[in-house]
Amino acid sequence: MSTEPRATPLRARRSGPLAGRVRPPGDKSISHRSLMLGALAVGETTVEGLLEGEDVLATAAAMRAFGATVHRADNGVWSVRGLGVGGLLEPDHVIDYGNAGTGVRLAMGIAGSHALSATFTGDASLVGRPMGRVFDPLRRMGVQVLSRSGDRLPATLRGPDMALPIEYRLPVASAQVKSAVLLAGLNTPGTTTIIEPVPTRDHTERMLAAFGASLETGIGDDGARVIRLEGRANLKPQKIVVPGDPSSAAFPIIAAVIVEGSDVTVENVLMNPTRFGLVETLVEMGADISIDNRRVIGGEEVGDIRVRGGRLRGMAVPAARAPSMIDEYPILAVAAAFAEGDTRLEGIGELRVKESDRIASVVAGLAANGVNVEEGPESIVVHGGAKVVGGGTVATHLDHRIAMSFLVLGLAADEPVTVDDAAPIATSFPAFRTMMSGLGADIEEAAAG
Ligand code: S3P
Repeated sequence: MSTEPRATPLRARRSGPLAGRVRPPGDKSISHRSLMLGALAVGETTVEGLLEGEDVLATAAAMRAFGATVHRADNGVWSVRGLGVGGLLEPDHVIDYGNAGTGVRLAMGIAGSHALSATFTGDASLVGRPMGRVFDPLRRMGVQVLSRSGDRLPATLRGPDMALPIEYRLPVASAQVKSAVLLAGLNTPGTTTIIEPVPTRDHTERMLAAFGASLETGIGDDGARVIRLEGRANLKPQKIVVPGDPSSAAFPIIAAVIVEGSDVTVENVLMNPTRFGLVETLVEMGADISIDNRRVIGGEEVGDIRVRGGRLRGMAVPAARAPSMIDEYPILAVAAAFAEGDTRLEGIGELRVKESDRIASVVAGLAANGVNVEEGPESIVVHGGAKVVGGGTVATHLDHRIAMSFLVLGLAADEPVTVDDAAPIATSFPAFRTMMSGLGADIEEAAAG
């Protein structure tokens, strides 16, 4: 975590048709929330299918630091013995969240409404990311925040004896901000209200309801979603089964789309409508995709996604779709490089404040591999074609999704594509290389540059 792992360059080469069935790792958003809500319930919550990536392991460590008992059994099932809402203890060390933006923002929401002090930090990517979006509502709830200038980490939060309930209209479409305020609202007397003009992923709401919190969701006069949570909640432990992460599934899915002759099935993928914009977009672009075996697991719909290689048409991806596929733009831009015509990705300014500035990282990576691409302040336009020259080296800037996206590009480019550091892939998809190799992808270690 705080000690940066050594850079691991990898190189992907043009590969034969990809074939087989794979299961993506557990959903990252649901995995973080499972451990956190488990820590806030009294009794034992069990979690099957937890994503065992560095980001989620940082949440396991953080919940332990707040006094919860978090344990992995030999069969891979995790258990969390929580202390109850209001029952967390003051950590005796700085909480290092590594690369995990979701983890730290949600944990700061939880810490903020407990009468304790907690200090948070992270890696070189995380300490550069904006935290004011979480500090602002928490300050209104009575939390004292001492942070590096520009509301960056490291930061120390001191929660009040009794937090104040607020009504908060989200100034950015961010599930992390919504969730941080709701989690703070759990230990706040009265009703905490969130107004969400643009709907974002709803895992916190679904899981809070399942844990027994009193929560109501409706639509306001102006069409915005309104979420009301009654504080001082009494959460009941749950048995959670985590579905496969659609944001990780995106890599084998798009690899199969762009590598001619491929036939790949990605099983057990979460199909929550607030997360499913990528598949919708690929279908509109002409991808050969079918979904079988739709079923409900742990209150969420999942399905097996079968993808066959084929040609795509460029399209303008509507800005309104951005929240439902926000983490998938880098890999969609890779698919767009192989599409006929232009693909316009609009309304994606939030990409500038992800693990890296993803607009800049994607544009630089595509350009380094001979793709004609244009950068706007909040947009990317990819001028696609049947062939991508490749041969470039891509700077990943501690960003797992940039690393995986450009390795996928290399599987269909004429010349091999190198990423300067694939180590961050371990934050969200530790088995990425093994899984892709199992489908026939040629990904090898490259000499450090
Ligand atoms: C997440 C919300 C999104 C997403 C992130 C996971 C979550 O971030 O990019 O990977 O689990 O709530 P924002 O809230 O910043 O959009």
